[in-house]
Amino acid sequence: MISLGIECTAHTLGMGIVKDGKVLSNASDAYKPKDEGILPRKAADHHAEVFGKILEDALNQARIRISDIGLIAFSQGPGIGSPLAVGISGARYLAGRFNKRIIGVNHCYAHIVISEHLTGLHEPLVLYLSGGNSQILVRRDGVWHVLGETLDVGIGNLFDSFGRVIGLKYAHGSELEKLANKGKYIEMPYTVKGMNLVFSGILTAAEKLHKSGAKKEDLAFSLMETSFAMACEATERALFLTKKKKLICCGGVAQNTRLKTMLKTMCDEDGVEFGVAPNEFNRDNGAMIAYAGELLFKKYGAMPMERCVAVTNYRIERMEEILRTSRRTRK
Ligand code: FE2
Repeated sequence: MISLGIECTAHTLGMGIVKDGKVLSNASDAYKPKDEGILPRKAADHHAEVFGKILEDALNQARIRISDIGLIAFSQGPGIGSPLAVGISGARYLAGRFNKRIIGVNHCYAHIVISEHLTGLHEPLVLYLSGGNSQILVRRDGVWHVLGETLDVGIGNLFDSFGRVIGLKYAHGSELEKLANKGKYIEMPYTVKGMNLVFSGILTAAEKLHKSGAKKEDLAFSLMETSFAMACEATERALFLTKKKKLICCGGVAQNTRLKTMLKTMCDEDGVEFGVAPNEFNRDNGAMIAYAGELLFKKYGAMPMERCVAVTNYRIERMEEILRTSRRTRK
C-alpha cells in the first residue's frame, strides 16, 4: 500500500509518501516567523498557500500519481488549531475527491515510530524533545505512557524564546546552536523533579544575564548545556526504573549535535544502545505521518470522515481510545 502523510501541527507543512515502510518522498516548506513566535493565522495562511506545491513535490519525488495512493494520513494533534485545520481540510478534500481511505495520526507517535523504524531499535525508552513537547515515554502492553515531562514550556520553546530575547533574525534552536558552539559555561538554574523538567527559570536567568551584558554565545551555550543535562538526568532515571537497554531520542531538538553526544556518552556508560533518526525525520515531516498512518491503518482500519478533526491537545495516552472509538462509529 502507498500512503501520503500530511504534517501540519505548527510551522511546517510537510507531505511524505511511504510504500510498505519505504520512504519514497518527503517534501516540506516551513513558515518562518520574523520577530514573534508562531502566529496561528500566518502559519495557516502559509500552509494553504503552499499546499498544492508541496503535494506536487511529494508526488514528483516519489514518481507516482495521486491515483496510486491508497491511504491519506494526517497529523491530528497535538498542535496549533489554525494550521492543523488547513492540513486536515486538505486531507479530507483529497480523500473525498479521489475516494481514498483516511486516518488521523498522533504527531508524537509518528516521531517515535519513524525513529524505531529507521534506527532498528524497537521497544525503547523514548526521549521526545521538540518546540512544544518534552517527554520521556515508554510502551507497556501496546500502550504509551509518559513517565516524565516538562512542567512548563517545551525545551525547543525555551530556545526560540531566548533567540527572540537576543534578537536573532530567525529565533530557532538551530541558530542558537551555532552561537552555542562558540560559548563558555555560566551557571544556570537546574531543576529536575524526579523525571519531570522545569525550563522557565533558565529563561528568566538568561534574560537577566543578557541585560547585565553577558555574551550571547556564553548564554546560548549555558542554556543548552544546562537544559540538555537536565534531560539526560531525567532520562537516566527512567532507564534505571524501566530497566530498558535501548534509548531513542526524537523530535525537532533531536537534531542538536551536542544533545546527541551527551546522550550517547550517558548510554555508553550505562550499557544502553542509543539511536536517533537522520535530521530530516526529526524535524516535522510528512513521511513520519505516512509511515505511522500505515501502521495504524493495519490495526484500526480507516477513520470515518466525521472523526477527521483536529485534537489540539492530543496526548499519546489517548491514542488507543481515539482510534478505537473511531472504529466503533465507522459504518
Ligand atoms: Fe514534531
